Parts: sequence; C-alpha cells; structure tokens
Amino acid sequence: MKILVVGSGGREHALCWAIRRSPLCEALYCAPGNPGIAQVATCLPVKAENVAGIVALAQERAIDLVIVGPEGPLVAGLVDALGAVGIKAFGPSAAAAQLEGSKGFMKDFCARHGIPTAAYARFTDAAAAKAYVRQQGAPIVVKADGLAAGKGVMVCPNEADAIAAIDTIMTEKAFGAAGVEVVIEEFLVGEEASFFALCDGKTAIALGAAQDHKAVGDGDTGPNTGGMGAYAPAPVVTPEVVDTVMTKIVAPTVAGMAAEGNPFRGVLFAGLMITATGPRLIEFNVRFGDPECQVLMSRLKSDLVPLLCASADGNLESADVEWFDAAVVVVVMAAKGYPGTPLKGTEIRNLAAADEVPEAVVFHAGTRADGDRILADGGRVLGVTARGRTVMEARERAYQAVDLIDWPEGFCRRDIAWRAL
Ligand code: AMP
Ligand code: GLY
Repeated sequence: MKILVVGSGGREHALCWAIRRSPLCEALYCAPGNPGIAQVATCLPVKAENVAGIVALAQERAIDLVIVGPEGPLVAGLVDALGAVGIKAFGPSAAAAQLEGSKGFMKDFCARHGIPTAAYARFTDAAAAKAYVRQQGAPIVVKADGLAAGKGVMVCPNEADAIAAIDTIMTEKAFGAAGVEVVIEEFLVGEEASFFALCDGKTAIALGAAQDHKAVGDGDTGPNTGGMGAYAPAPVVTPEVVDTVMTKIVAPTVAGMAAEGNPFRGVLFAGLMITATGPRLIEFNVRFGDPECQVLMSRLKSDLVPLLCASADGNLESADVEWFDAAVVVVVMAAKGYPGTPLKGTEIRNLAAADEVPEAVVFHAGTRADGDRILADGGRVLGVTARGRTVMEARERAYQAVDLIDWPEGFCRRDIAWRAL
C-alpha cells in the first residue's frame, strides 16, 4: 500500500514509525512531516489544514490509505473530501468529528444517550452565562464551544474568574468564532486519564489508556500545556474501569452516532475523570492524543495498518490487537518560554546518542532541519520515549536518553509518571 500520514507532530512521527514496520506498507509519505519523520517517510510540503491540497496530493501519488493525525482537518472535512474522490481515509467524517469540534454538540449528545459527564448549560449570551455562574457558584468550568488549540477551557476556582473567563471568550473573542458559544460545566474531582478506542461506525475495541501531564512544571504546577509527558499502563485505569468506560461511554457513543446518521470511524479519545463514583467523561477527542500516541505505538505489537484499514472499512469486528507486555514513558522536551512564546531556532545536538539508549526512541514534534543541523521550531519539540518491564525502568531509560541530548535552550519535567511510582 501507498500510505500518507497527515500532520507534523510527535503523534504523526509515532504513527509513521509504527506504519514503517508494516509489511503492507510499500511507500510512506507524510504531509508536511518534520525532520524526524523524514527518517522513516518521504515528507511532502502540504499543510495539514489545506484540505484541497492534501486531496490533490493523495490523487497525484495514488495513495491507498490516508491517516489524518490532527483534529483541525478532521473537523474541516478532510476524510469526507478524500472519500468523495474514492480515497480510503482513517478518521471520522466532519459530522462525526463534531464530538470534538463542538463541546455543545458533545454535551447534548451525551445527555441524549445517558453518557456520564459533568452537568452543563450552553450560552450564546454573555449576560445569561454570567447569571448562570452566579446561580451555580464556584468552582466551575467555562469552555469555548469550538476548537481553540487546547486553550479554550478555563477551570475557575471562584465566580470572579468564571465571569472573567466568559468575558475573555465572548466579549474579547480571544478564540474568535470558537467562542461565539460557551459551555459552562460542573467541576469534576478525581484523577484524569486518556482512554482510546478504535471504532468502525458500529464496533469499538479498546486500545487502552495512558496518563498525560498537562501542567508545565514538576509536581503539576504552572500553566497547562498540550501535555509534558505520558505513560502507560495507568494504574487508575483498572480492568473494571476499562469495562465501565467501554459499556457506559464508548458503546453508547458508537451506537448513538450511528443511530443519528453520523457513524463514528477512527479513534475515539475519551478524556476521563475517575471520580469517587466511577469514570465520567470530561471531553471527547476524535484523534490520537499527543503525546499519548507515542506511548500507544511503542506498546503496540500488532501491525497498525490492518487495524486502521478495518476501522475505515467497517471490519473491526474480527480484528484483534496485541500489545507488548511493557510499560512506556514519554518525556516531552519543550523550548524555553513554552507554553507562552517558545524560543525558536536553537540547535539540538546528540540526538543519535539518545536514540541508541536500549528501548528508547526520540520522536520529533517541533523541529526543522537546517542542512545537517536540527533546530527547535515549536513549543513541544521532542518526545523522548522508552519501554521497560516496569514504569520505573521505562522512566529511567527515558531520562537517560533525555540527559544525552545536548540542548541548553530546552527543558522537561523530571517527574513524569510519578503517580504510577
Ligand atoms: P481540555 O483542554 O478540554 O483537555 O481540558 C483541559 C483540562 O481542563 C482537562 O484536562 C481537565 O484537567 C480540566 N477540565 C475540563 N473540564 C473539567 C471539568 N468539568 N471538571 C474538572 N476539570 C475539568
Ligand atoms: N495530550 C492531550 C491531547 O492530545 O489532547
């Protein structure tokens, strides 16, 4: 097969790294990719958001399967546009991607299907939203309805913060059209986990869970980021929790989306809060997590390609997934300044030595090449990933690899996976 992966982050590097191992893969392309991805795939300079450009590229190269990494092109209808010209694509249609693209859609959907999530209300009027906050009290959570690059969620410890959050989103329009509507939610208490299920429109199979670290600093301090590291297995996601999530959240979602005429194909990422009364859904994403994907791909023993094809073709029922009996830890190395304005263009040296640490692999997330040099070109720059028999061993190897990387302008958290240790 000729395969095209769409995206340019650590998630897409991990997907390409897994696909490259498949005997079914004859040629692998990535658009636009990055210098790490270029080690395993041919990178082509078309941006992920350029739907027409990706479709043209897939036609030109006679691609058999397109795998869409990020949510933006999914919500924009890339899978529909590829389907319209007869190209198979992994990921949901635009209609099904609404589960991530509109928080209001997702909350109403959960209400219709009895899926356990936080109580909520939707508003297009700022005054009405503020009145609701005053009536409910704090802590409370204010969310922009649409896609806001992970920044549209504000957890507000008091009413004044919630009022300010409504102004930021609705009056100052900090997230543009994504903030025309807000969702205001009950604050959930518990431990968070990222849960993944592969879906084909009718059937879902569990891909397991990982735990991410959102805060930028050690001990979960400082502002939130896209994720500073992740690990699996997550002790909080017991076999009982997996069962509950599959029966109470994933199965009703797949059945409900099909019944409403928007069958969900692709990977369903349930952001969970494991509360005292069981798992509740914080949010849905319609793609692999980043950096959780790096962990999942490192644990996957089965060939990824037939699984993705089964999801796209509606044949998951007979699929079987095998995993390595290993723990995996990914430590994100970010450029100084992240999650504010990251320092760009600094040189990263000694990456090859880090890749040689046993069971370790360095996934590129935000790099660019300048001749033979690798330069930082984003906030989250590298995902240093390692396998081990235990979380402790995986973590030691990951930090051993981190410490070999010569990049004074980068930083990482030193406590990834602390909850599991
Ligand atoms: P998101 O950007 O949607 O992943 O949300 C960012 C973070 O906000 C989540 O990882 C949670 O830590 C937090 N969060 C979102 N909704 C809630 C909620 N209803 N209760 C408590 N925390 C929440
Ligand atoms: N790591 C969280 C996300 O991908 O949304």
